[in-house]
Parts: sequence; structure tokens; C-alpha cells
Amino acid sequence: MSHEKFRPQYHFSPRKNWINDPNGLCYFNGEYHLFYQYHPHSKVWGPMHWGHAVSTDLIQWEHLPVALYPDELGQIFSGSVVVDHLNTSGLQVDQRKVMVAIFTHHKEGHETQSIAYSRDEGRTWEKYHLNPVLDNPGLKDFRDPKVFWNETHWVMSLACGDHIRFYRSEDLLNWTYLSSFGHEYGAHGGVWECPDLIRFQTDAGEKWVLIVSINPGGPNGGSAIQYFTGSFDGKMFKPDQSKEVVKWADYGRDFYAAVTWSNLAEPLWIGWMNNWQYANEGPTHPFRGSMSIPRKLYLKEVEGKTMLVQKPIEVTPLLKERTESECICLKPEHAFSRVIQRQSSFQATIKSGFVAFDLSIKGEGEQLTINFNPFKQCLKVDRTGLKLVQFSKEFASVDSMSVKYVNDFHLFIDECSIEIFINQGTKVMTELFYMNGDSFTLEWKANKTELQAKYRLEEISSIYEPA
Ligand code: FRU
Repeated sequence: MSHEKFRPQYHFSPRKNWINDPNGLCYFNGEYHLFYQYHPHSKVWGPMHWGHAVSTDLIQWEHLPVALYPDELGQIFSGSVVVDHLNTSGLQVDQRKVMVAIFTHHKEGHETQSIAYSRDEGRTWEKYHLNPVLDNPGLKDFRDPKVFWNETHWVMSLACGDHIRFYRSEDLLNWTYLSSFGHEYGAHGGVWECPDLIRFQTDAGEKWVLIVSINPGGPNGGSAIQYFTGSFDGKMFKPDQSKEVVKWADYGRDFYAAVTWSNLAEPLWIGWMNNWQYANEGPTHPFRGSMSIPRKLYLKEVEGKTMLVQKPIEVTPLLKERTESECICLKPEHAFSRVIQRQSSFQATIKSGFVAFDLSIKGEGEQLTINFNPFKQCLKVDRTGLKLVQFSKEFASVDSMSVKYVNDFHLFIDECSIEIFINQGTKVMTELFYMNGDSFTLEWKANKTELQAKYRLEEISSIYEPA
């Protein structure tokens, strides 16, 4: 186990220095690639590079050298990677398929889209000699290209300030404008970033989801991810929700810029666990920033609305110890209490979803509390009881989301984060917290009425190996 304070053990973090958005997520020849916004020389955001790691199980990551460096066209902002199976770009020269990265070049506020390619499974990258491949039509924000293969051609979603633009290409080298979406839809408390247009196969046929990160303007302040459900006819995205409806993927403060892996049959994504409000100030060393647990995405009809559902990937390969109970019965104000290690998962199925409770992670004279109040139909994460909050005035917060009942939850705890998936992943909150101590105490207390539940407590192995 590493002795670096607050070093995530089963979440991805760089060995040192600053990271933000996941980039270029692509599955190829048995490997999950994770590129990321990276500043290799500092713990604060600066000239952006693409860092790189690969994994075969999405938990244990091999750190690879920086993939893309800034050049005369600018810094390397966020973008995506695809496998050009049909060699539409002509960049493939032998039997090995090429991976193509489509990213934003950012120079003194001017943003254009460029490409780079790899002929050796992502180990080395060459920038295309005719970059940029998509010039800026005069927009201040014009970034974060996410590309997918749409049966006969490529489609790119691009974040343009207060809307998303779609472009089309036959060869990844020449792009034509298709349409725009969003001026009048959804949340507009901040700039739109990191889009992803995802196709879902449902029992009712094909459905599309457009992911849009927004900063600031999230439901609890700062950065967050909204999504739109609807259809895509190859040219335009048509939402099936009215203009004022806002759907949030995660109500926590620390889940941003998530996008899906390309070249996979089923949607799977990962997000940056942070918030631009305090990302540059987090008290970790020698790194700053980490990724969420990877999550599979599904759609579900809830009260007549199509909702995004997230299921964390299995961490079973890392399981050290498991305690399960048939049924526990918590009388009001009587707490269930267990000493837990700093990497744990706690899952419960509750007999009645309408019972008020507090679920706390406690340390020495400090705590993080998750409170469910069925009368107010509200679930809160309270960080005000933590000691280490002064690095930013935005950090000590009480963050909430509307939840009518809690039938089940799955809580993931790592060195400095919690992720809570409520009712089979229909409501999610991701939050950072920094608490001292070798272990924590998990306390679960029913408020007002008796609570009956089955639970499963798991200890997760610490696998981060310092270089
Ligand atoms: C999102 C973002 C992107 C941009 C990148 C720069 O967090 O602002 O829009 O490409 O970060 O690092």
C-alpha cells in the first residue's frame, strides 16, 4: 500500500501532477485506453498534454508515457479516439489498424480541431501534417470533439459555448457542418463542454442520449453533467423532453467531463472526480485529481421519463473480505456501527424505501454524512463536519438531490471519494472528502422509524503501487 496521503487505491490517478478530463477513451485489442488532460510539470492546471494509461480490467492501470504534447498550434485540449477499422482516413499502411485521436488545439483562446494517429496500438502518436482538420468559424468556445462511427460515416459532437454542433466526415480529415442543438434547452448556468452522443438499444427500439458537461451551473454549484434523451436521424438531434427540463447524470459535486469508451458494444463511461470550483486546490500530493469508478450506462423509463442509469463495474477481482447479513433491524436512534478500512464498499437493500436514515463515515472528531429524508424527499451529502475543508471556501457543502425512496444503495469509499448509487443506479452522487485516520467507522442510523435491511460490506484491496 502506498503511503501517499489521499492516494486513491482502486480509482485511477496519475503518479504525479495535475489531471482533469478523461480523453480518448477507446477499447482496442483487449485494452481499455484512458488518455487524460495532463500537466506533467505541475499540480495546477497549465499547458495541456494528453497523459495515457491502459488497463485490461478497468481497475489496474499501466501508466504510459505522455501521448500528445502541445505544439505550434497550441495546447492539447479534450477529445476522443476511434479505431479506423475501414481505413477511411488512409492513414493505415500495413495490416495494423490505426487509432485516430481527434482533439482540440487551443492557442491563446483560439480553438480548432486536429488529429493524430497511432499505428502501434496507442504507444506512439504522430500529429497529422495538415492540422487543423476543422477550423474555427468564429466561435469563442469550439472544443472537445467526440467522434463515433454512424454506420457509413463519422459524426462529431462539439461543444460551442451554449450549444452543441454536429459535424460529419467520410475520412476523419474533412468535416462538414450538420446541425446545432441546445440554445433553448436544458441548463445554461455556465459553458457547455465535453459532449457525447450515445446510441442505446432499448426494448422500445433505438434511443439517443446527448451528454453535456456544464461549468458552472451544476445542481449543487460548479461543474456537473446534464443529458438529453431523444433521437438522432444522422443529421439532427431531436430531444424528447421539453425545453425547461434538466436531467442531471450525477448530483454530486465531483463528477465531470465523463464520456464513453469508443469501439465497445455497450456504453461505458468514466468521469473526472472533481469540480472546477476547487480542483486546483485539493490537498493531495504528489498528484492532483482522479477518475471515478467506470460505470455502465443504461436507459430506464421512470414515471414516463427516459432516465440514464449507471452501474459501477464489478470490483470483485479486488475483493479482500466480504461480510453479509441476512437481515438487520435498526431501532430508531440505534446505530449500526462497523470499523471499515479506507477502501470499502457498502451495499444495502432496505425493506421499506421510505425510512429516514443517516449513513456516516466517521473519523477522529469529524464525519461525512449521507442523510435521507423521505418527508422532504431529499438525499443529502454533508461535508460540513469534515476538518480538512479550508483549502477552498467552496468545499464544505451540503449537497442534495431529490429522492422519493431508497430501496437500495451501493456506496463506494476510497481514499478521498465516495460514490453513492441509489435505487439500482437511477440516482447517483459523487463527492470528494479528505479525512485522516488509518480506518473509518461506518455508522448507519434509522431516524424516527425502524429500518430493516440486508447488507453487504466489502473490503477492497489497495492496489496502487508507487513508481
Ligand atoms: C473541461 C475542459 C474542456 C477543455 C479542457 C481543458 O473540464 O474545460 O472543455 O477541453 O477541460 O483542460
